[in-house]
Amino acid sequence: MLIKVLGSAAGGGFPQINCNCANCADVRLGKPGLAPRTQSSLAVSRDGESWALLNASPDLRQQVAATPELAPAGRRVLGGARTSPIKAVALTNGDVDHIAGLLSLREAFAFTIYATERVLGTLAANRIFSVLDSRLVQRVATAPGRPVKLAGGGQDLGLTLEAFPVPGKVALYLEDAAAGPGLGTREGDTVGVRVADPVTGAAFFYIPGCAAVDAALAARLRGASLVLFDGTLYSDEEMIVQGLSAKTGRRMGHISMSGRDGALAAFAGLDVERRVFVHMNNSNPVLRDGSRERREVEEAGWEVACDGMEIRL
Ligand code: MLT
Ligand code: MN
Ligand code: ZN
Repeated sequence: MLIKVLGSAAGGGFPQINCNCANCADVRLGKPGLAPRTQSSLAVSRDGESWALLNASPDLRQQVAATPELAPAGRRVLGGARTSPIKAVALTNGDVDHIAGLLSLREAFAFTIYATERVLGTLAANRIFSVLDSRLVQRVATAPGRPVKLAGGGQDLGLTLEAFPVPGKVALYLEDAAAGPGLGTREGDTVGVRVADPVTGAAFFYIPGCAAVDAALAARLRGASLVLFDGTLYSDEEMIVQGLSAKTGRRMGHISMSGRDGALAAFAGLDVERRVFVHMNNSNPVLRDGSRERREVEEAGWEVACDGMEIRL
């Protein structure tokens, strides 16, 4: 199985269009130690020919252009001049950074969207997604405990995907303040996925949005060979401290790396072989090579993903 990180930044990307925080300013100037990053997405394939995207970011077109494996294979492929190795897209929530790229896949090719009933409902309720021709683009509901075979465009990808709920929050644009502290969040609004190759037994978890590692999630992840996990913020209040936002990480539905309830602490006893942070917000000090925070997470056994990162399982 081959995994490619197409985009390792959170919503807004790095640098973010309207942001002049220290990280964004320095990366824009091309200062050493900081690399630009596009918005949150992975690609996965068993054979290197047919691919599934895990989330479809607003930067999808740029990500495909930077990834030769995702280019049309040319006229040698049966089916004519219009073709793409992208056969499936699985969604972990309805956030803009994870679904807007679907609109870049509207050029009449066949693929399958995998998402929870909740997220499929969000797509169905917004007519703009009808641009994905239902005769070509199938929508398949995922549910916990029910792995599905990834397939699309008449091809079986040879991989299974299981989606399971994780603590989180409904998409920003669906927040309902009148619904109380949960803002209207329901099960299925935020999921993690486990992708597996049933032949080799290789498997990994991808959880780009997660508010906390509760007992159920800890039990699920224990002993895993690879987890790509929510690395939005280093500390819960960093956006407030940097004058970027009035929101904490908790309010945004994101765990932090540091702190008593943070990801480093939560994974400390879980025996996960390889731990990779994805979905980093531009405010996160780990984006700077050699920073104290970067050293701390690396010493704790974590990697900080960059765009183009490749992992073979
Ligand atoms: C998030 O990860 O919290 C969202 O992508 C925020 C957003 O939609 O801008
Ligand atoms: Mn996001
Ligand atoms: Zn910034």
